Amino acid sequence: MSKVSIIGASNTKFGAFVKKNRETGEITDTKSYYDLLVEAGKGAIADAGLEPKDIDGIWIGSCSPAKFINQEHIGPLGLEVAPDDFRLIPTTRTEGACASSSLAVYNALYGIESGRFSRVLVIGVEKMNMLNTKDMTHTLACCSHWPTEGVSGMTFPMLFAEYAKGYQKHYNLTPDELRKMFAHISAFCYKNALENPLAHFGKGSPQDKLGLQTAEAILNLPDTGKGSNPMVAPPLRLHDCSLVTDGAAALVLTTTNEAKSISNKVVEIAGIGQATERLQEKVRPNMHELIAGKVAVQRSFDEAGFTINDLDFAEVHDCFTINQILCTEALGLSEDGRGGWDYIDGRYTPEDTCPINLSGGLKAKGHPVGATGASMHALAYKQLVGEPIGLAPKKGTPETGVVFNVGGSAATNCVTTLRRIK
Ligand code: COA
Repeated sequence: MSKVSIIGASNTKFGAFVKKNRETGEITDTKSYYDLLVEAGKGAIADAGLEPKDIDGIWIGSCSPAKFINQEHIGPLGLEVAPDDFRLIPTTRTEGACASSSLAVYNALYGIESGRFSRVLVIGVEKMNMLNTKDMTHTLACCSHWPTEGVSGMTFPMLFAEYAKGYQKHYNLTPDELRKMFAHISAFCYKNALENPLAHFGKGSPQDKLGLQTAEAILNLPDTGKGSNPMVAPPLRLHDCSLVTDGAAALVLTTTNEAKSISNKVVEIAGIGQATERLQEKVRPNMHELIAGKVAVQRSFDEAGFTINDLDFAEVHDCFTINQILCTEALGLSEDGRGGWDYIDGRYTPEDTCPINLSGGLKAKGHPVGATGASMHALAYKQLVGEPIGLAPKKGTPETGVVFNVGGSAATNCVTTLRRIK
């Protein structure tokens, strides 16, 4: 059985594509979900050097479009990428919270491996900014275990605050030590994103204007007022939270055998791993590590025949700064309990043997939840074919990379190990 490869990718600009009337609260769309989906889909097909008629299946990952923009039944929207050519094509929509479009990659891969599909378009898309903060927060909370979490007011910052508290307790960290670790990580992501032209918080953004590319600058911010770093869900503050973003990304997949004959830019999915944790946080064995995430990593590495030492860069799911630490440890880049200290020590920059989140991550590139997995794969693909969008590893064009995308409160864990073939 041939493995599956990526032969084209595209990522829209990420941002908040709305106009908000502060007096009335009215929100006007300036770039719709539909436009973002079509732009990403067209872009990936063009990047692959194919025509829409070459595609025989579409998978779309989206987290909660019904609540964000009143749109359900997403599969058929894929046809709008090329209405004449795509009419009557099979389509599937996948949902796994913030890992929705990594699940689209996962399922499309099986579609190709089975022999039923030969060239597939995968799209991830989300439009989060049509809702005010309260309704957006409620929508995301629907990805928690509603009867025990969402219903009692648990938000996503609160759910990841439980991991932050669990980590702090297990490793006996002082509040100042934890805060310093988090500040280093957000500054690290803000700095990387300045080079990413597609980033939500790139050049000219609020964090750029405030000069938040050092931990010291973040630690010096006041607790309240304009330009502050208020507590959102203790111990997580504003600058520990990922952004509320609109955007889409897409990929074209085919068998590696076919990819080699039709493309000069082939990145193989060398290994793919998925592992699911129980949805309720309270029933998990501990809250200081990503137990299922570690299993997903191992499954992906085993299939690829890789160890972490074989990898040239990683894109990890920093939905909150604590999760960047947990992902770094789950990958085996940092020893358990050392992740935060390693960031303080200046590791994982472009100069490192395995840089992390060169894109700026979810913290600064942005986190349009259902689009994030596809976006991580798209930017990793561009990195591996020597067309980086933003920063690249200093040691030269990478040959291998890993994408670690997490859905919900680390319940759905998807890890893809990638290798450039040509
Ligand atoms: N990080 C840094 N700055 C942020 C930010 C974030 N996550 N969110 C908003 N800001 C900034 C804005 O740019 C704005 O700056 P300005 O006053 O200089 O223009 C200011 O903070 C207020 O913006 P606003 O949009 O009113 O913030 P908000 O209160 O509506 O949202 C959060 C802040 C933290 C609630 C929101 O960003 C959030 O919920 N993030 C997490 C999203 C999430 O849970 N995703 C799923 C993860 S699993």
